[in-house]
Amino acid sequence: MHLSRQANLTLAQMPKQWYNIFPDLPEPLPPPKDPEQGESRLANLPKLMIGECLKQESSKDRWIAIPGELVDLYAQAGRPRPLFRARNLEKKLDTPARLYYKSEFFSPTGSHKVNTAIAQCYYAKKEGFKRVTTETGAGQWGTALAYGATLLGLKCTVFWVRSVYNWKADRRTFMELLGAEVFASPSPKTESGKQLYEKNPNHPGSLGIAISEGLEDSKKDPSAVYCLGSVLNHVLLHQTIIGLETQKQFEIFDDYPDIMISCFGGGSNFGGFILPFVGDVLTKGKKIKFIAAQSKVATNLQGEYRYDFADYAEFTPLLKMYTLGHKIDMKPIKADGLRYHGGAPILSLLRHLGYIDTIAYPEDEKHVFERAKMFIETEGWLPAPESAYSIACAIDEAIKCREAGESKVIAFNISGHGFMDIFAYKEVLGL
Ligand SMILES: Cc1ncc(COP(=O)(O)O)c(C=O)c1O
Repeated sequence: MHLSRQANLTLAQMPKQWYNIFPDLPEPLPPPKDPEQGESRLANLPKLMIGECLKQESSKDRWIAIPGELVDLYAQAGRPRPLFRARNLEKKLDTPARLYYKSEFFSPTGSHKVNTAIAQCYYAKKEGFKRVTTETGAGQWGTALAYGATLLGLKCTVFWVRSVYNWKADRRTFMELLGAEVFASPSPKTESGKQLYEKNPNHPGSLGIAISEGLEDSKKDPSAVYCLGSVLNHVLLHQTIIGLETQKQFEIFDDYPDIMISCFGGGSNFGGFILPFVGDVLTKGKKIKFIAAQSKVATNLQGEYRYDFADYAEFTPLLKMYTLGHKIDMKPIKADGLRYHGGAPILSLLRHLGYIDTIAYPEDEKHVFERAKMFIETEGWLPAPESAYSIACAIDEAIKCREAGESKVIAFNISGHGFMDIFAYKEVLGL
């Protein structure tokens, strides 16, 4: 069958298992560990995390079944999502490269984050919790968790990095419409927030600080559990639905990627998109170049590969990851979801072993937003600011193909839509 623009799957064809790369990794993943001083964070984990997610965190099973009810909820959230061929963009760029993009923007809350939010809320409910707490940076994760919570009849509390909370009032209303309570972080509601808030009530906040607040809030309430939207192994596992669908869709297109690209904050959409294909590289001898698109304000993949905390207040165990240091201050950018100090341990290991490349774009974001505008003009979809990084990198690679006369296949993930981020385009592009 000749397909020109879009490949999609029926519900029956949607993957019913997540892919866990653990058994296929070339080296064992360094496990989380406790710091030399202070109480054991590892011993605390069962009190902080959803039991099933903690189990998935270290599972050695290659395939993990997606429960039937969750498959249903994925359908409710609009899965499967199409893989598009970017024919108009190819034409505009006059490139021999073939460009494909995965449409995680087809999402009730606007991003890929629902893929793990629904899963975490499903398990939280099953384990008897009544409330979920979390942090959010760009606001997409907070909205996704609020969505998952309302679908499953749970309450939801979101600590939102203040610099973004202040300029995304509409997304705050969206979370409230979904029934969540939302606090600007650092907040006076928790001890870890209070210290910083009292020194500076306009403190811009960071994801690391907001994570500490979400954790502390859930620790104080036995009916609540904390959910994390990126970085951890189980989050990447849930997100592999993206890459697994993409694999089947490439079969329909009768094509296969040479280069795979996505934006990278903590690594969940990037990991979800590429890990099934990394599996092909590790076990089937395929060759793919994987590129993580980042901002120069948060080049975590160019940091040091070492053990570090995942949060500011050091509640979490130490994770072996590429990190800029958990206390680092990073300048706010429009693609605020990319502003995190560390990269997911699985992806950090793969980068350490040479499987993942990275590029960082300037902090004024002009190049990135101009590239996104070209995408909007040709393909007609409005990407989230974070996803604009993925697009910029894909276009840059397609231009390299034009210059070298190479017809490579470039696949990129569009992690979210930008309907609630128009002001970001307006400001950066001076519209
Ligand atoms: C639309 C979108 N894309 C990407 C990201 C980056 O997160 P991750 O690296 O976990 O995919 C975020 C984070 O908030 C986001 O909102």
